[in-house]
Amino acid sequence: MLSQTNTSSIRSWALTIAGCLVSALGLAQPGPGPNEKAMQETRDIAAAMLKELGQTLQTAMANGGPENAIGVCKTQAPEIAQNLSSKYQVQVARVGTRARNPVMGVANEWQSQALKQFESRLARGDKPYDIEFVQLTKSGAYDLELRYAKPIVLQPMCTACHGSPDQISPEVKAKLEQLYPNDKAVNYKPGELRGAVVVTRILSH
Ligand code: HEC
Repeated sequence: MLSQTNTSSIRSWALTIAGCLVSALGLAQPGPGPNEKAMQETRDIAAAMLKELGQTLQTAMANGGPENAIGVCKTQAPEIAQNLSSKYQVQVARVGTRARNPVMGVANEWQSQALKQFESRLARGDKPYDIEFVQLTKSGAYDLELRYAKPIVLQPMCTACHGSPDQISPEVKAKLEQLYPNDKAVNYKPGELRGAVVVTRILSH
């Protein structure tokens, strides 16, 4: 009981600090200012990406197993990201703590920073849906770049393609080896951080 009280008071304390930082950066303004609206929209975009991806993958797995679903991860995941990017005029992608796709799945500097923060917060017992990364940097003379990330945690169904060698069928293994000769995205365990959905956008003034 005591520890729960402590945790929640620490959490509200941390939220207050985070809130101060956010308002200092001009994200939170009294009333729904443009930046606050952009922040909420960005959260919704990341959530939509996770939801659509999860549903598409689940359907493909149910319809034809992991062998069939490889195509979903290869072509539909970038398509979903592309559609959201053009719809909202942002850049949506997903990156891995260890990447399978060496072109699209590798984290850049701020994304690696986000992944590190996620690792330590998950290790502390924080829940993935409570965790997010927000960073604002200057972009050019007048604009700001908003960088947002949300954790992707491995679920049991993901082990068919990201788990240990005995969890991946020989057929899937062969296909993965052929498509991704430098695959690093294996040997993950359920609950482990797999990567992040990342959203980048320019906030014009
Ligand atoms: C059917 C096999 C399969 C399953 C099941 C699967 N993935 Fe993947 N995953 C892939 C493939 C293939 C890629 C590379 C896609 C590409 O070419 O961009 C990938 C890429 C990723 C990436 C992008 C980073 C990288 O490594 O390139 C993340 C994040 C990811 N998967 C998370 C998950 C999560 C979380 C689950 C479970 C909910 C999951 N995957 C289930 C096959 C799978």
